[in-house]
This record gives sequence, structure tokens and C-alpha cells, in this order.
Amino acid sequence: MTFDFTDKVVLITGAGAGLGNACALAFADAGAKLVITDICQQSLDRAVVDLASRGAEVLGLINDASDCADVSAMLDSIIERYGRLDIAVNNAGTATPLQEFHEVGEAEFDRVMGVNLKGVWLCMQAEIRQMLKQGGGCIVNMASATSRNTYPNASPYVTSKFAVAGLTRTVAVEYADRDIRINAICPGNVATPLVVSLVEDLSVLATKHAIKRLGTPEEVANGVMFLASDLSSFSTGSLLEVDGGWNAI
Ligand SMILES: NC(=O)c1ccc[n+]([C@@H]2O[C@H](COP(=O)([O-])OP(=O)(O)OC[C@H]3O[C@@H](n4cnc5c(N)ncnc54)[C@H](O)[C@@H]3O)[C@@H](O)[C@H]2O)c1
Repeated sequence: MTFDFTDKVVLITGAGAGLGNACALAFADAGAKLVITDICQQSLDRAVVDLASRGAEVLGLINDASDCADVSAMLDSIIERYGRLDIAVNNAGTATPLQEFHEVGEAEFDRVMGVNLKGVWLCMQAEIRQMLKQGGGCIVNMASATSRNTYPNASPYVTSKFAVAGLTRTVAVEYADRDIRINAICPGNVATPLVVSLVEDLSVLATKHAIKRLGTPEEVANGVMFLASDLSSFSTGSLLEVDGGWNAI
């Protein structure tokens, strides 16, 4: 299936690497006008060059999704460049090294919750303020298979992703009658830089999935594009599992 996002203004946070980058490439190939952000200048620059070389119209912003002033400036830059924001993919996320619950430090908990939960909260607020002004829009939050399931020794991450699911659902209901759809995608494991940095043996991760392999970034991007497209026009407040059957086991 091919998607058509011609001339849609699409924001993807944390798009310098991993799943966000795969989403950016997919939206670019579908004709979108992109805004990509990342906290890492090198990753952002690489992604902007890559997207521009494919002919995409792209605005790259160095940005911390967990910082209120940064997020506000991000929206200002989007409106200055494109005048509107049609679709936002709140993808930026992080994790702690696997660690038993009683060993996790407060700073690590705050860091993960700051990016994964507060970041989504701040971005959604700024995006929705703009979408209300322009009369609608569509938001996809990057949740996780662990938004509904356990992952021992990853308590800050799991806590943040359960919270993203709850936030997505309740905010979706608040704006459902104002033409703003808000959904979340719940991927299983994909061998992104984040996962590779945390897990030594990826073959163990594969066994968590009924399909007995990891997902690909493109498979996750397909789910994101479905939720961002009119094909999902009757979906809001939903959590779409793209997890190789992890949550069905
Ligand atoms: N990879 C997986 O298996 C998997 C599974 C489920 C959910 N997710 C979620 O997908 C999202 C992306 O994960 P990934 O695996 O691609 O990670 P990744 O680390 O490979 O890529 C994340 C990108 O986000 C950027 N980033 C980090 N903190 C940021 C911040 N505060 N502001 C802006 N950018 C920031 C990083 O610099 C990086 O370029 C995360 O929300 C993650 O929780 C990943």
C-alpha cells in the first residue's frame, strides 16, 4: 500500500535516528513537507541531508522535546516556515539500562519520564493549540508494546509508556469533537540505536514476539502512517499494536 501525504505538514520529534528517522523517510516518500527535530545535532544534520537528497522539503530543528521553551520555539518555527501543522508524530524517547527496580536512581527516573512522558505532554499541548486555531489535525504518539505489558528491569520506561497510553486516550476524548484525532502506536522491539545500546543479545528479544523476530523500522512507520492518514478516520484514542503478537501471547 502506498500513502499520499502530498503537501501535508508533518512534524516528527526525535527523527535523527531509529524509528523517528524511518517515519521521516516514509513520510518524505509520500510527499509530506517535513519538520524533523532531534536533541543531537549530528544525527539531525545527517537526517536533513539524507531527506533533502531524496527531494524532500525538510526543516530540521535542534530541540529538546522535554523542554517547554524549546517546544514552544519549535511550534513558532513550524508556523513561520509552513503556516500550519497537519500531523505530529511524538516519537522522541529514551530508556535506562536494564536495572532492578530497587536500584533505579531518582535522576534516571526523572530523565526517562521527562522525555517519554513530559515530552509527549508538552508537544501535544503546543500541537493542539495550533490545531485548534487551524480547525483540526492528527497526532500519533510513540507508545510501546510495554504500554500494556511488563518488561522486568525497565520500570522507568514501562511506567512512562503506560502513562503515554493513558494520556493519549484521555486527550483524544477531549478533542474528538474538534477534528483532532490522537492515537498511539505500540511497537514491539526493533533493532534501533537505542535498543542495540541496551541489549546485548537481540535474539532473546526476538523470542518475546509471537512472530519470533524483531520488527523493522519500516513496519512501524507503516503503522504510524496509517494512524496519520484518512484511512484511520474513525480511530481516535486507539493504541495500535505493531508488535509481532507480543501482547497477544
Ligand atoms: N526501538 C524499539 O524497539 C522501540 C519499541 C517501542 C517503542 N519505541 C519508542 O520509539 C521511540 C524511538 O525509539 P528508537 O528506538 O528509535 O530510539 P533511538 O535512540 O534509536 O532514536 C531516538 C532519537 O530521539 C532523539 N532524542 C532523544 N531524546 C530526545 C529529546 N529529549 N528531544 C528530542 N530528541 C530526542 C535521539 O537523539 C535519537 O535520535 C521512543 O519513544 C521509544 O520509546 C522503540
